[in-house]
Amino acid sequence: MTKRVLVTGGTGYIGSHTTVELLEAGYDVVIVDNLSNSERSVLGGIRKITGRTVPFHKVDCGNLARLRRVFARYGFDAVIHFAASKAVGESVEQPLLYYRNNLVSLMNILQLMREFRVPNLVFSSSCTVYGQAEKLPVSEQTPRREATSPYGNTKHICEDIIRDSVAAYPEVHSIALRYFNPIGAHPSAEIGELPRGVPNNLIPFVTQTAAGIRPMLSIFGDDYNTPDGSCIRDYINVRDLAKAHVVAVGRMVDGRMKAPFEVFNVGTGRGVSTLEVVRTFEQVNNLKLIYKIVGRRAGDIEAVWADPAFANKELGWKAETSLEDTLRSAWAWQRHLDAKNKKNQ
Ligand code: UD1
Repeated sequence: MTKRVLVTGGTGYIGSHTTVELLEAGYDVVIVDNLSNSERSVLGGIRKITGRTVPFHKVDCGNLARLRRVFARYGFDAVIHFAASKAVGESVEQPLLYYRNNLVSLMNILQLMREFRVPNLVFSSSCTVYGQAEKLPVSEQTPRREATSPYGNTKHICEDIIRDSVAAYPEVHSIALRYFNPIGAHPSAEIGELPRGVPNNLIPFVTQTAAGIRPMLSIFGDDYNTPDGSCIRDYINVRDLAKAHVVAVGRMVDGRMKAPFEVFNVGTGRGVSTLEVVRTFEQVNNLKLIYKIVGRRAGDIEAVWADPAFANKELGWKAETSLEDTLRSAWAWQRHLDAKNKKNQ
């Protein structure tokens, strides 16, 4: 029988790409999203790519009663819980909003999974739990560090909530995927990242600068202890990341987990500097970016990249798309958005 997956935050950036990959792998998907940081039109993009219409419920995962109705209506084999707030700066300004959103949503999901006997949870975690590690790359054994932002702390605490819940409730299993820096868009350019207002993250800022929406990109610091002085990250193609979720769901529903709670790094294993990203983006898309070097951004860590060996071996998953192709896809998506906006003017 076809397995059905509840995807919370399914109209978001990673959620929409994962929905597409789940559908293409033969799963049924139901999306819940409160549309706080995404748009209903994303469902159209998913339909264009897959030819399938996904049931959508505009529900905030903090609303237990409404979420319960969704669980009661469908039988789920697994939940992928993306729905969360993720802006580091905003979380410093509004910590209670972040703790309430991110922690209560997860607790509601876990409660309903128990009530409705849904055994499998894939959770969106982040490499932010490692902070600035002493040794690079970071493996799953690298100790977690105290978070540098309330956002980061919610990921840390959510992992702990899952660990303790799985230990107490044998009917619940979970895989936490620690994402590095997801970038790029679906090769069809029908879905991609849709930042609201001024983007916080590097790639949407880069593509909006290239499109002339922003006058200039600021590079936050060139005095780090790295080869070119800019920060180093592990940029992972969003579709590759989406596929890691499909593999994780398969591992759970097929009963192939080796422990009731497993954690995997989802990265490429390659550290790339901010300046390298900018240069590669210019090169592969044959354009020039206007940028300047400014001071460091508060809370940024110098360098982090993944040791993905455990995910490669245990999940049989590997990042496949090159940085070049990924940066081409990011630009194609920006042009798609610009064309759509022009048409609507
Ligand atoms: C951070 C978190 C990540 C979280 C994400 C959510 C860490 C290590 N990572 O990613 O867990 O999910 O935020 O938003 O805590 N940069 C510029 N100019 C810009 C924007 C960014 O130079 O205009 C640089 C940053 O200094 C950084 C790199 O680009 O070195 C990537 O930044 P960004 O895309 O914001 O991601 P992280 O801060 O790494």
